[in-house]
Amino acid sequence: MKSLRIALTKGRLEKDTVALFEKIGFDCSAVKNKGRKLILPVGDNQFEVVLAKAADVITYVEHGVCDLGVVGKDTILEHGSGFYEVLDLGFGKCKFALAGPKNKEFFSGYSSKTIATKYPNVARNYFENKGMDVRIIKIEGSVELAPLLGLSDAIVDIVETGSTLKENGLEVIESICNISARLIVNAASLKIRKAEIESLAERMDRAKEGTE
Ligand code: PRP
Repeated sequence: MKSLRIALTKGRLEKDTVALFEKIGFDCSAVKNKGRKLILPVGDNQFEVVLAKAADVITYVEHGVCDLGVVGKDTILEHGSGFYEVLDLGFGKCKFALAGPKNKEFFSGYSSKTIATKYPNVARNYFENKGMDVRIIKIEGSVELAPLLGLSDAIVDIVETGSTLKENGLEVIESICNISARLIVNAASLKIRKAEIESLAERMDRAKEGTE
């Protein structure tokens, strides 16, 4: 049978996942010395790693061309879930927050507010739950710029250390929810290759707890 294919979110989550695989005892030298290669073997071809952008990890897993994926809960909340989320990997910890200019009251006044975000669905759900009608503007990165330039009243974004907010004169108005990396699985793969997938997920879970 073909080896299992795991889509990894490139960057920070990739590094943490490789560290977790190495803790289990898988040889990750091909991934660590990848150059510009995007599909790489792990261990003795035990499985294959596919390096992709976060939203694409979900696309590849949903379509079943990758059996598993490692992706942040932020991307899952934004893109929805036509797959199983089987494990909280415990790394990539941060939170979603509503943030705005320091010492500026946000939840007051009657005028409708404008929110800039890379996560329009998350922002929409958050304000719908509050019964607040807001205008949402999609920004691709460095969302902190939007209130500084006067485009928005506030942002919905990821906060990790809080230093980007601080260094730009912004502060958290309200925390929305915690985020961390998750292991996701294609629904058909989970049926057809249940034993293999469960065994890998269990090993990742044990390694995460440091008991493997
Ligand atoms: C994320 C996020 C914040 C920053 C938060 O951006 O959008 O800008 O990290 O981290 P901090 O609280 O530790 O300062 P990222 O670095 O992913 O880049 P982007 O803004 O271009 O998406």
